[in-house]
Amino acid sequence: MAAHRWREGWVAWRNRLLSDARFQRWAAGFPLTRGIANRRATALFDVVAGFVYSQVLTACVELGLLERLLRAPTAAAELAEDLSLPLESAERLLAAAAALGLAERVGDGRFALGPQGAALLGNAGLKDMIAHHALLYADLADSVGVLRRGRGELARFWPYAEAGGARAAAAEAVSAYSALMTSTQPAVAAEILHAYDVRRHKSVLVVGGGEGAFLAAAGADAPKLGLILFDLPAVCERAQRHFESRGLSQRATAIGGDFLTDPIPRGADLMTLVRIVHDQSDQGALTLLRNIRSALPSEGALLVAEPMSGAPKADRVADAYFGMYLLAMGRGRARTPAEIVSLLREAGFGHFRRLRTRTPSLLSIIVARR
Ligand SMILES: C[S@@+](CC[C@H](N)C(=O)[O-])C[C@H]1O[C@@H](n2cnc3c(N)ncnc32)[C@H](O)[C@@H]1O
Repeated sequence: MAAHRWREGWVAWRNRLLSDARFQRWAAGFPLTRGIANRRATALFDVVAGFVYSQVLTACVELGLLERLLRAPTAAAELAEDLSLPLESAERLLAAAAALGLAERVGDGRFALGPQGAALLGNAGLKDMIAHHALLYADLADSVGVLRRGRGELARFWPYAEAGGARAAAAEAVSAYSALMTSTQPAVAAEILHAYDVRRHKSVLVVGGGEGAFLAAAGADAPKLGLILFDLPAVCERAQRHFESRGLSQRATAIGGDFLTDPIPRGADLMTLVRIVHDQSDQGALTLLRNIRSALPSEGALLVAEPMSGAPKADRVADAYFGMYLLAMGRGRARTPAEIVSLLREAGFGHFRRLRTRTPSLLSIIVARR
């Protein structure tokens, strides 16, 4: 029997068992299965309640609760008065935050910052990410509608993803997403620079490099590396200002253009696509990869880094989160490394290497050569 037939049979048998109410009652009571049954029930409830958990988090971020708990443990009555909330609402919020590890009961009716809250405050990008989720949540309140239309209001946040949007993107249209990309970039840059030694190259061109946060991190890692950025003209103006504020204006160059229709600037022996391919259609990605290949010297390398599907423990991030996010955004999808390699091969690249990252749910990396 073919392996997939065997698997289909096993899955059907297992599902008959798991959906049987009598089996569920038995498994919850039998000592050897009780633990598994409990874990599965909790995991299922987490899926059921995930949207509510996210809204508790949103309220904590919007109300500045985590910063407040970091400064000093707080009781519900103080919180209620300071935030003009009914006492009962303050109690509910603190209890919900504590249940999710964002806050922690420290006795005497007071709450301190919890371990998840502390981890969140240590990652400025995550807070900005949560704040911009308001659009995504509004879309996903009608998830079937997003699935039917293949896009949502989130598309307004990413104007370059709309038809003709890259050409038309004006300064005010790129500011919100560019700022978000900059604040979420440090963790991404750290992963890439840990996995790949950019010092082996003479110069790097970051294609779709945003305001240059990754470029600046690479430059700090490799003081002799030439630094070039290519992005839409309105984003390049922002990058230029960032270079000035970081004392990089003599060293780094920003070139404005459309990476799907303009030639990619030549001269760099390393080119990067960081969080770029996943918001392109297959056709767009192929055009971009071909464009890059024709500008890359024969000894050059292209580094592709983004969350990919199928990496260990990455499926929830890539397939559930980014899958729905990119659908609401109206373009792109999380691809497996094999799918990206297949696009690279079709674009004419011949050698591929997958790099190990410390946090595969955040990022996978493929390095391609001609
Ligand atoms: C998701 S952001 C990633 C930014 C940056 N690489 C990072 O990881 O922070 C995508 C970037 O690609 C740029 N971009 C999108 N379409 C483009 C196009 N057709 N030509 C040039 N840049 C483009 C956007 O302006 C944006 O800066």
